[in-house]
Amino acid sequence: MCGIVGVVGRGEAAPLLLEGLRRLEYRGYDSAGIATLVNGHIERRRAEGKLVNLAAVLEREPLPGTTGIGHTRWATHGAPTERNAHPHATRRCAVVHNGIIENHAELRAELERAGVAFETETDTETFVRLLDANLAQGMEPRAAFAAALRRVHGAFALAAIFAGHPRTLLAARQGAPLAVGFGEGEMFVGSDALALAPLTRRIAYLEEGDWAEVGAEGAAFFDARGERVERPVVVTAVSGAAVGKGNYRHFMEKELHEHPAVLGDTLRQYLDPKTLEVRLPRLPFDPARVPRLTISACGSAFLAGLVGRYWIERLARLPVDADIASELRYRDPPLPEGGGAILVSQSGETADTLAALRLLREGGQRVLSVVNVPESSMARESDGCVLTVAGPEIGVASTKAFTAQLAVLACLAVGFGRARRELTTLDEGRLTQALLEVPGNAAAVLEQDAQIRELAAEVAKARDVLFLGRGSLYPIALEGALKLKEISYIHAEGYAAGEMKHGPIALIDESVPVVALCPTGPLFEKTMSNLQEAAARGGRILAFTDEDGAGPLSRFAERVTVLPKVGAFSTPILYAIPVQLLAYHVAVLKGTDVDQPRNLAKSVTVE
Ligand code: F6R
Repeated sequence: MCGIVGVVGRGEAAPLLLEGLRRLEYRGYDSAGIATLVNGHIERRRAEGKLVNLAAVLEREPLPGTTGIGHTRWATHGAPTERNAHPHATRRCAVVHNGIIENHAELRAELERAGVAFETETDTETFVRLLDANLAQGMEPRAAFAAALRRVHGAFALAAIFAGHPRTLLAARQGAPLAVGFGEGEMFVGSDALALAPLTRRIAYLEEGDWAEVGAEGAAFFDARGERVERPVVVTAVSGAAVGKGNYRHFMEKELHEHPAVLGDTLRQYLDPKTLEVRLPRLPFDPARVPRLTISACGSAFLAGLVGRYWIERLARLPVDADIASELRYRDPPLPEGGGAILVSQSGETADTLAALRLLREGGQRVLSVVNVPESSMARESDGCVLTVAGPEIGVASTKAFTAQLAVLACLAVGFGRARRELTTLDEGRLTQALLEVPGNAAAVLEQDAQIRELAAEVAKARDVLFLGRGSLYPIALEGALKLKEISYIHAEGYAAGEMKHGPIALIDESVPVVALCPTGPLFEKTMSNLQEAAARGGRILAFTDEDGAGPLSRFAERVTVLPKVGAFSTPILYAIPVQLLAYHVAVLKGTDVDQPRNLAKSVTVE
């Protein structure tokens, strides 16, 4: 992952680079650095840790120069120290890099045999040394860069500047996104349009294998064979406005409170409140004919996909395979002729999901992606795209984007059910009505905030926590556990409630809280029985249910939080909110870095 940004500018580059990095910090925050050309020489400033540390270094030691590159790092090779921070530089060139150079070990060995000394443990430095060696032989930057590119394998994006060439920046894309921004007498590169939006809205995206020579007045694009190519300049819809926290302490808290609005905005796109019909955009496959669907994604997006599987199989009677993208891509699954696929991603840039997308397309599947970023690589590479309308999500832990994914998948499931004649118009109207009530119910769930905060005080004391749910709430139990691990660093597991007795029940004692997702409905009695089995062994049950479930659960649960009573169809969307809120409050109590938890990054663009 990592974020990269570059400027061939008119004024000082450093403030622009820093602002670009601020907008890219979601991609990694282990270290940051910038390099500029000062009187034709390369100079750099770097700092371990978050961008504020680099900003402080720049305060103390400003960096002049109008051409430069910047980087915010999510460490892959080499510890997150200042020494390993990008840009990596020699006297002749400086490079920022996002992704992994997979053949770095053999290149390093080859260069070391030739007498080249390395300063860092990073894979990036191999590219810098290759480039430097080419320059040392008298090659011009463009030829040196192209020759070095031919030697490296992997998935990455790169940007480089060169001593003595104050108006030249070279950039390449091979598996990781990169955009070139067109200004007035100044040009930019960045990992995404978000980084460039305050500088320019006119963007050209590099395609796979492309590289570009960027000068102050424009850019020349080349494909992997070095042939000159044209890449269209589009006006990005991404806003340059800074996203603020408002009156909230954290972005995550703000984003949690955006659930009702985001759900409303997303559902409004795909539901007609007057006719109570689902209105889907043109799909790349015919749901009435497709023999099977494959759903794939990573992390929370995968868990949304798992709920999607429950819905689509139940409502549309359409067989669905669901697999995490990093497994799917190496599993070599048999894919049916004429099959369809749904790929889910907030960022639309997740490397594993993007690779699964390509594999599925190569296997003849027609791919529909559910993404939050309209201009993302996944949106551009899919056969069709349905957008979540969640707006920018800054907190690393996904919240509103997750429920927006659920909302889209729910609409797809109903639409598929209608197309396959498994649902009548009446069924469609009933399900649509239930979805239209979700934003209001989400607001009611948020009113339980104070009670969930009290619950968090209990959970915060635990070393291990179990989350249990059945049916379409099983993936929500997984989501609760994932969120808690991710931001509070408490070990948590999600289980299908019925699976407890097959092993995990051995974990139960009075020190392990069991968070139970237990609304009344078809699976209520069964889930209750599983919870009683845990309570009988000293388990402390913290239950989420509705008013009808509160009485029976109160007989043995330590705490019962009452949520609005809704039909089984919309419970996964609503029950996701309290488990995310719970994780948030636990993290606040534990004093962790809620928006930027350790070791993580928002967009995972490495395998
Ligand atoms: C969890 C979380 C991650 C992401 C995952 C996929 O809170 O945010 O698990 O869901 O990295 O990211 P996207 O949706 O951008 O593909």
